[in-house]
Amino acid sequence: MMEKKVVCVGLVCVDLVNICSDFPKEDTDQRINSLQWRRGGNAANTSVVLSLLGTAVDFVGVVPSTSDSNNTSWGIAAAKHAKSDLRKNGVGIEHVTECHTVDFPTSTVIVNAENGSRTIMHYRGDFPELTVDNILQLSMDEFDWFHFESRPNHDVICSCVAKIKENNCKTTVSIELEKIRTFDADPSLQFAKLADLVFVSKEFASHMKCRDAIEAVEHVHGLLPRAAIICTWGNAGAAYFDNGKGHQVCAASVNTVVDTLGAGDSFIGGVIHAMHRGASLGDSVAFGCRVAERKIADLGFSHVADMSGTRFG
Ligand code: FRU
Repeated sequence: MMEKKVVCVGLVCVDLVNICSDFPKEDTDQRINSLQWRRGGNAANTSVVLSLLGTAVDFVGVVPSTSDSNNTSWGIAAAKHAKSDLRKNGVGIEHVTECHTVDFPTSTVIVNAENGSRTIMHYRGDFPELTVDNILQLSMDEFDWFHFESRPNHDVICSCVAKIKENNCKTTVSIELEKIRTFDADPSLQFAKLADLVFVSKEFASHMKCRDAIEAVEHVHGLLPRAAIICTWGNAGAAYFDNGKGHQVCAASVNTVVDTLGAGDSFIGGVIHAMHRGASLGDSVAFGCRVAERKIADLGFSHVADMSGTRFG
C-alpha cells in the first residue's frame, strides 16, 4: 500500500532577505552584507522542511497563474521562483490554486548578522485567500495528515477540518496559531476545536497574556481540550501538554545563531515528521527543537536535510 502523504495548507510568498551587519537605524543609508531572494511562507517553509527530512508532502496555497510567458511583472517572476523552489525541494504542488493577479505576497526581511534575528515586513495587498473548494478539491484519501497555517480565513479552515474529519476521523489535523489577528477574531479559538494538534507561537501566547510556554499549553488546553498542544518559546525551547499537565523541553544552545527566519516553521516540520513516523509527543517535540536549532545555525533551509534519518527519543 502507498504510504499516505502530509499536506500543508497556507502561505507561499517570496522573501527579500537583507543580511545586515547590525540592525539599521531609522532614516539612515547603509550597505548590507548580502541580499537573497527566497521562497517563504509558513506552510511552504514547513513543507520544504518535511520534504528535506524525508516525509512525502504536498503544499496547497494560492499562486498567480504563471502560464502567460509574455508577462514580465515582478509578481509573476516571484511566483515562478517560489514554485520552482518548492518543486526543487521535492514538494508536490499540483493542487495549488492559480489566481489571475500579477501581485504576489512579498516579505522584506532584515536578518541581523549580529544575533540572527529576523524582522519581517509583509506585503499582501488584496491577494486572495484559499476557499473551502480550493482545499477540498484534493483527493483526501491520499493524505493522512492535514496541517493548516491559521490565516484570516479561519472560517474556511474550520469548515475544511469538519469535512476532513467527516471523511475519515483517523486523518490527523494540526493547526498553527501564529498570527495574533487570528486570536483577536476568535479569542475562544473555536475554529480549531476539531484539531488533533495545535502549535502556538510565543507571539501568539504572549498576546494571550501567557508568561511562558507551560502556561500557554495549559491555557490553550483549557480552550481546546481534545487537542495536543505545543508552544515554542525561542531559546527557552518548547512545552507540550500531555497526561493532564504541561512538560518543558529545553533548547540546546547554538554556538552562532545565523538566521532565525523560518525557525518556527522548521520546528513544526520536525514535529510532524517525527509524529507521522509514530514517535511519541515528547520525542517529537524534542526532535522539533533539534531541527529548529539546526536551521538557525545557517542561512536558509537546505542544511536541515542533514537531519533526515535521525532517530527519535
Ligand atoms: C517565516 C515566514 C516568512 C514569511 C513570513 C510571513 O515564518 O513564513 O517566510 O515572509 O513568515 O508572515
